[in-house]
Amino acid sequence: MTTTADAVTCTQLAYAFGETKAVDGLDLTVREGEVFGLLGPNGAGKTTAIRCITTLLPVPSGMVRVFGHDAAGERMGVRRLLGYVPQQLSADANLTGRENVSLFARVFDVPRRERAARVSQALAAVDLTGAADRLAGTYSGGMVRRLELAQALVSAPRLLILDEPTIGLDPIARTSVWEHITAVRAATGMTVLVTTHYMDEADQYCDRVGLMHHGRVRALGTPAELRRGLGERRGAAATDPLPTLEDVFRDVAGSGLDDQSGDFRDVRSTRRTAQRVG
Ligand SMILES: Nc1ncnc2c1ncn2[C@@H]1O[C@H](COP(=O)(O)OP(=O)(O)O)[C@@H](O)[C@H]1O
Ligand SMILES: [Mg+2]
Repeated sequence: MTTTADAVTCTQLAYAFGETKAVDGLDLTVREGEVFGLLGPNGAGKTTAIRCITTLLPVPSGMVRVFGHDAAGERMGVRRLLGYVPQQLSADANLTGRENVSLFARVFDVPRRERAARVSQALAAVDLTGAADRLAGTYSGGMVRRLELAQALVSAPRLLILDEPTIGLDPIARTSVWEHITAVRAATGMTVLVTTHYMDEADQYCDRVGLMHHGRVRALGTPAELRRGLGERRGAAATDPLPTLEDVFRDVAGSGLDDQSGDFRDVRSTRRTAQRVG
């Protein structure tokens, strides 16, 4: 059911690149205030779905609503509500951290009088105050990701969308990015929609997850519900360790997971993303 309290509703969303059905009948509801993880291997269709939700791609088939606004008919209305950190690099290496965030503040119409303060606040929220006046080109991968988070936060969005925020980062930087996302959510109550192919991270940090495979959500619930559900289907004893989210994914995706999870293009774009933050 769609209610105005839902942050995102996709109904039978479909998007194809030629013969490739990247998104293929996606049904998805993200509730206001939750951290929702859209999980799946490379090539599952996560980025394409996200780009439809952010209005960067059209909605050729099906429906997408963001806080009740139609992504097809009210693109500007939707864009004003969200902050977006794309999978690919969105910070400029030749600008300082502060200049990068200021640029987003201008683009997203943060009132001129408030801009300097809001930029400083966003940088502080991701622990970049000390590095704010250095060129972003000198930042580590984790710092670049946090800078991009600040860029998305400066407009105080109701919905923050992050596409693979931790891809290519070392474990410490990954934890730091997640801790900042969690802290910002706790402080502002904003809704977070995040994609990742790291199931362990989603298990730890997401309120609910949707497991996406071949363009569609195949299983939906809290990480604990999904893991317990698989344990029960397998007839595990109450004292057995719970299956992991990865086990759940293998169960819903079946045997097609290993040979069909992403083609060369996906591997290449993942690498490129990993390199640029490395
Ligand atoms: N610009 C594009 N042109 C052609 N095919 C694409 C393009 N972008 C994505 N695809 C294909 O669509 C499918 C879904 O890709 P994507 O949405 O990027 O998945 P994910 O983000 O889950 O890795 C893949 O098979 C991918 O190769
Ligand atoms: Mg992607």
